[in-house]
Amino acid sequence: MAVGKIIIAGNWKMHKTQGEALEFLTVLKSKVEETDEAREIVLCVPFTTLSILSKSLHGGKVRLGAQNIHWEDKGAYTGEISGPMLTELSVDYVVIGHSERRQYFGETDKTANLRVIAAQRHGLTPILCVGETKEQRDAGEAESVIINQLQKGLVDVDQSNLVIAYEPIWAIGTGDTCDATEANRIIRVIRDQLSNKNVTIQYGGSVKPNNIDEIMAQSDIDGALVGGASLDPVSFARIVNYQ
Ligand code: G3P
Repeated sequence: MAVGKIIIAGNWKMHKTQGEALEFLTVLKSKVEETDEAREIVLCVPFTTLSILSKSLHGGKVRLGAQNIHWEDKGAYTGEISGPMLTELSVDYVVIGHSERRQYFGETDKTANLRVIAAQRHGLTPILCVGETKEQRDAGEAESVIINQLQKGLVDVDQSNLVIAYEPIWAIGTGDTCDATEANRIIRVIRDQLSNKNVTIQYGGSVKPNNIDEIMAQSDIDGALVGGASLDPVSFARIVNYQ
């Protein structure tokens, strides 16, 4: 029941050493051998594990994602990573504008927009994250906040190579999943804003093995961006292999 291409992505955030990443991959690979080819599986991992995972993933069905990209190709930007550095490691996706980047590292709609454009320039698929806080939701502002994030984040963006992740901030890491029908409703609001109606739109926020089936049964949800439950290969495999 999806509109766009189905993409299930794990966002490891600041978790896993290289050794832990390889252990994870060994288990995951054994559990997704039979997964429907139509489901794209992506691991968005820390920069330090990209290299070792790119060698182990080569030729397999799991794709690699990063968690940020700078808009310049090189320069005096301490702590940043550029498009050429990512493409050299066979990265295909990059998470941009995650609420944790916005909350803790001063990311704005403008910088997210610059990063999305840079990702596309290098042939990477940006996963642009949008979502409202609890206060904004309670004030009835969820839709307007998200529409504003999209309008600013998608200036001059090619919508033929784009993924949007709807991540209500109050549902991230809290176990308080957004009701699946409500997530679907907001995702329809997002789709209405897009010129390309086939963009993959994921839901993210406390996605777990016990709620993924209901989430993916919705009409407009094309996948998931999974945090905590993507750290365990058995849980993540169960999510990828939703019913
Ligand atoms: O990017 C995924 C994320 O923010 C959701 O995290 O732990 O609630 O699945 P979690």
